[in-house]
Amino acid sequence: MAAAPNPKRNALWSDVFLSDDHKVLAEMARDFSRREIEPLAEKIDRDHHFPREILRQMGALGFMGIMVPVEWGGAGLDTMSYVTVLEEISVACASTSVVMSVNNSLACAPLVKFGSIEQKERFLRPMASGEKLGCYCLSEPGSGSDAAAMKTRAVKKGDKWILNGVKNFITNGREADYAIVYAIVDPDKKHKGIGAFVVDAKSKGYSVGKVEDKLGICGSSTTQIVLENVEVPESCLLGAENDGFKVAMSTLDGGRIGIACQAVGIARAALEEATAYSLEREAFGKPIADLGAIQIHLADMATKTDASRLLMRAAAALKDGDRPFSKQAAQAKLFASEACMEVSTRGIQVLGGYGYTKDYAMERHFRDAKITEIYEGTSEIQRIVIARSLVKEL
Ligand code: CAA
Repeated sequence: MAAAPNPKRNALWSDVFLSDDHKVLAEMARDFSRREIEPLAEKIDRDHHFPREILRQMGALGFMGIMVPVEWGGAGLDTMSYVTVLEEISVACASTSVVMSVNNSLACAPLVKFGSIEQKERFLRPMASGEKLGCYCLSEPGSGSDAAAMKTRAVKKGDKWILNGVKNFITNGREADYAIVYAIVDPDKKHKGIGAFVVDAKSKGYSVGKVEDKLGICGSSTTQIVLENVEVPESCLLGAENDGFKVAMSTLDGGRIGIACQAVGIARAALEEATAYSLEREAFGKPIADLGAIQIHLADMATKTDASRLLMRAAAALKDGDRPFSKQAAQAKLFASEACMEVSTRGIQVLGGYGYTKDYAMERHFRDAKITEIYEGTSEIQRIVIARSLVKEL
């Protein structure tokens, strides 16, 4: 049993700030998401089912390479379009939205920005159309937040690079066709000695290691990627030899807008379910929506969700205007992910005992929310990025 979907979902007040084109896109994505994804979301979560059939449709709609120029097989749209679509997908299913987010923000985006013509033709085009899937390999078993402390090594041998190491917590790891891999090219230079490589998952020595059994986003895979003497042609170096850390960091700036957006979508789903439930459930002779204690929860949930969306869209607008947005992306991710955790926790409280069961989607939203405070930089890392930017701005 689940509360009926909120019939007012189309009336998102903050859409008034969108252009007419973005509004049309939002409506189209909302319709698709409600029709094609929402009915499958429970199964995707319960069976840890990778939503391949949905991703195929999303590829056909241009959702897997929204910001990739049309000449490289993408939709050629802006970041605002990306978050407009991604929020709608996230409302329905956070597992599907993280697959989409990683492909767009972490796999396609660095190829658009730093890729050679050859790399764009070979790797970007099929990922942008959704025919192939990408992943982003930065974290390792011994280094997550301190990304520059990685151990994976790339050694030049003739016209090839030989990669050895283990990458951890890689979203899309099990299904990805191509991986953006970061590795030490010069150990004496710390973060200035890191290179970025585009690696074909079919390469000899490339394998999927441990597949994580997770609390949430259960339909997406999170795995280790093991690299054992993987030969990568020189032409697969992404950007300059020592620019890998900058490639990684600037890519994550954009990725953080995507995760902020995912958090907004999960929070919105929790808010919609809690609101619908509060109208159906009666206590003390009236719908609980009329009880002050419930109204406080709903009002705070709505305000924090809307504030998160405004911060997230502000960061997207700065990125689209070619303005610095690193701090704003971190602020949006920090605020939206913590708000999402709070909103889904309070959502369970509104539903009471039912919220704690699998009869309602609320407990899925609660489990899915937590990861938004962790991946693509924990809340603690976002605070470091924000605080350092403040000092730099003085
Ligand atoms: N854009 C471009 N360059 C940047 C940058 C940015 N946003 N941030 C830093 N840099 C550059 C700096 O300018 C500096 O360059 P110079 O030496 O030339 O001046 C260099 O990078 C080093 O910067 P810092 O001294 O700030 O580096 P640091 O080692 O102190 O680390 C950090 C900074 C912010 C903590 C960084 O390590 C970080 O973001 N850590 C978190 C990593 C992360 O988010 N991991 C998530 C992995 S992806 C994932 O979640 C998996 C998935 O599949 C979803």
